[in-house]
Amino acid sequence: MNILYGRVQLAAEAALNLWRVKMNEDKQVIRDFWNYRSQTFDKSPGHYAASKEEEEAWKVLLRSKLGNAEKILDIGSGTGFLSLILADMGYGVVGIDLSEKMITRASAKAREKGLPIAFHQDDAENLGFENNSFDAIVNRAVLWTLPHPDIAVREWMRVLRPGGKLCFFLHEPRDDRKVSIQKQVLNLWILLSERRNPWRTLGNGRQAVNLPYNGGVKPGVIVDLLKSAGYSNVLAEPMHRIEALKRQRLPYPYRISHGHGQFCYTAEKPKED
Ligand SMILES: C[S@@+](CC[C@H](N)C(=O)[O-])C[C@H]1O[C@@H](n2cnc3c(N)ncnc32)[C@H](O)[C@@H]1O
Repeated sequence: MNILYGRVQLAAEAALNLWRVKMNEDKQVIRDFWNYRSQTFDKSPGHYAASKEEEEAWKVLLRSKLGNAEKILDIGSGTGFLSLILADMGYGVVGIDLSEKMITRASAKAREKGLPIAFHQDDAENLGFENNSFDAIVNRAVLWTLPHPDIAVREWMRVLRPGGKLCFFLHEPRDDRKVSIQKQVLNLWILLSERRNPWRTLGNGRQAVNLPYNGGVKPGVIVDLLKSAGYSNVLAEPMHRIEALKRQRLPYPYRISHGHGQFCYTAEKPKED
C-alpha cells in the first residue's frame, strides 16, 4: 500500500513539475513577444489618447470608478497608458509588467513628465505583493494575454484590500465578417506605417501559446469569471463615449477593420465581516 501511495505521489509531482515547466515556457514566449511589441507599441492608434477630449474622457471614467483610492496597482502597465493618466490625476500608482522593455519605456515616460510612478517587473498571475496591499487595481487589454485568467483574477483579489476596487478594460470578440480582407489591408498598413510585423502574434507560429481570451471575450464570460472568483458588485459597461472619440481620429485602414468594442469591468473585493 505504501509503495503504491509513493508511486502515485511521485507521478503527481512529475505532472505538477511538467505543468510548471510548460507554464514558465509560455511566460517566456509571452514576455519575448511583448518585449518585441514594446518597440512600436506607442505607434498603434488604439494605444494612446488621440485627443485632449479622449484623455479627459478617460479621466472622468477613471475618477468615477476609483473615487478616492490612494494606492493603485496597474497590472500589465505596458508603456504606461493608465499609470501615467492616473498619476497625473494625483493617484499613487505602482505599475507592473512581465516585459522589462515595456517597463523601461513606461519609466522613461514617467520621468519625462515628472510623475512619481514605481514600475517594476512582475507576473499578473503570481504577484510579489503582500495580501491586502492596494485600494484599487486597474488594467487595460491584459486579461486576453494571460494563459490563466482564472488564476489571475483570484491573485488580484488577494492583493486588494477588503472593499478595494477592481476596474479593467477589455475587448469583446472581433466581428468575424471583418476578419479577412479588411484585416489584411490593415496589416499591410501597419507593416508600412508602424514598421512592425502584424502577422507575428501570440496565437500562431511554432511558439503559439494557449490564451483562453485571445481575440477578445464576451462580457458575460468575464462577469461569470469575476463572480465565481468571489467578487461582488460586478458590472460590465460598453465604452461608447471613448470609442466614439477614438474613432474620429482612427486612420482609415483601422476604421474599416475595427470590429470589436471595449468594455469597462468593475468589481469589489467583499468587505470582511
Ligand atoms: C496589450 S498590452 C496593454 C498595455 C497597457 N495596459 C495599455 O493599455 O497600453 C498587454 C501588456 O500586458 C503585459 N503582460 C502580459 N503578460 C503579463 C503577465 N503575466 N504579467 C504582467 N504583465 C503581462 C504585456 O507585457 C503588455 O505590456
